[in-house]
Amino acid sequence: MIRSVVRGTGAALPRRIMKNADFEGMVETSDEWIAQRTGIRQRHIAGDDETTASLGEAAARAALADAGLTPADIDVIVLATSTPNNTFPATAVEIQNRLGMHHGFAFDMQAVCSGFVYAVTTADLYIRGGLARRVLVIGSETFSRILDWSDRSTCVLFGDGAGAVILEAGEGTGGIADRGVLAASLRSDGTHKEKLFVDGGPSTTGTVGHLRMEGREVFKHAVGMITDVIEATFSQAGISADDLDWFVPHQANKRIIDASAKKLGIAEQKVVVTVDLHGNTSAASVPLALSVAVADGRIKKGALVLLEAMGGGFTWGAVLVRW
Ligand code: UT7
Repeated sequence: MIRSVVRGTGAALPRRIMKNADFEGMVETSDEWIAQRTGIRQRHIAGDDETTASLGEAAARAALADAGLTPADIDVIVLATSTPNNTFPATAVEIQNRLGMHHGFAFDMQAVCSGFVYAVTTADLYIRGGLARRVLVIGSETFSRILDWSDRSTCVLFGDGAGAVILEAGEGTGGIADRGVLAASLRSDGTHKEKLFVDGGPSTTGTVGHLRMEGREVFKHAVGMITDVIEATFSQAGISADDLDWFVPHQANKRIIDASAKKLGIAEQKVVVTVDLHGNTSAASVPLALSVAVADGRIKKGALVLLEAMGGGFTWGAVLVRW
């Protein structure tokens, strides 16, 4: 059978780093509060010349270089983002053009922080369905542009950045020893929309709007949703937490990551944590964390890797990949 195998990874971060202490003169907060409650120590913030498209392009070029491929080798681009350059056209098409790619097709996916997990799942279906041989999957965000910089309960949490992977058709036997995407489980439920949303949009206010979050409420639901979808993925693949080599969760809050790993019985040393460096970069958080763990040699060919995300909507999901 056809499997969607990871051929390369890449990342891009804005030049400017903002440390927790840099917020101290802006809102009533402290480095200590942010670090203790979230695990975040710094985040990258896009400059005027850095956008979701430019960061996405840079991450895509890094992934292409890692894979030893050129844009000519890519059939489809899927970009996960909630902060597109324009309401339309899709920022994925802008990235396609920036890459000098005038064949195939490109589109955006909107599932907020779960966007990358949704996009990988979609790319996997294009490949297994025979519609594409190689798909460039990007998560790129500039959440700094939709933050209310006077709201301490949200502005300290998010950062900008982009990560990318290239999935390529490979041969598998259908078992979990195969390389590639092995199982996935996606969920959404609009009941909790008002707990995490942006208070503007083209069809309502005609404005971009600002991110609004009832953090404590999101936190309350997060661990249960994350563990449910991971357990569904485990049972699909017929594996348990002990079989995993690496857990690469959405990087929103170190306390949520720790509580989820503990509930699932995933050993602490198998968890990839980058929230301290990047903050919450929404759809970019999982591919950014992945590219760090690949670059530093932790995730190697053959490793069994679990990706997970949860965000606005609510949306949530998990993907199991053998590297
Ligand atoms: O990516 C999408 C998913 N998003 C998430 O997963 C985020 C989920 N939520 C969280 O990560 C946490 O709920 C937060 C980090 C947002 C907040 O942590 P918490 O432990 O839930 O704190 P809290 O909201 O219960 O607030 C505790 C106190 C409050 O003061 P009072 O009411 O106890 O007097 C807040 O006003 O901390 C206050 N507070 C702050 N203090 C200093 C809120 N933000 C700040 C701040 N600095 N930046």
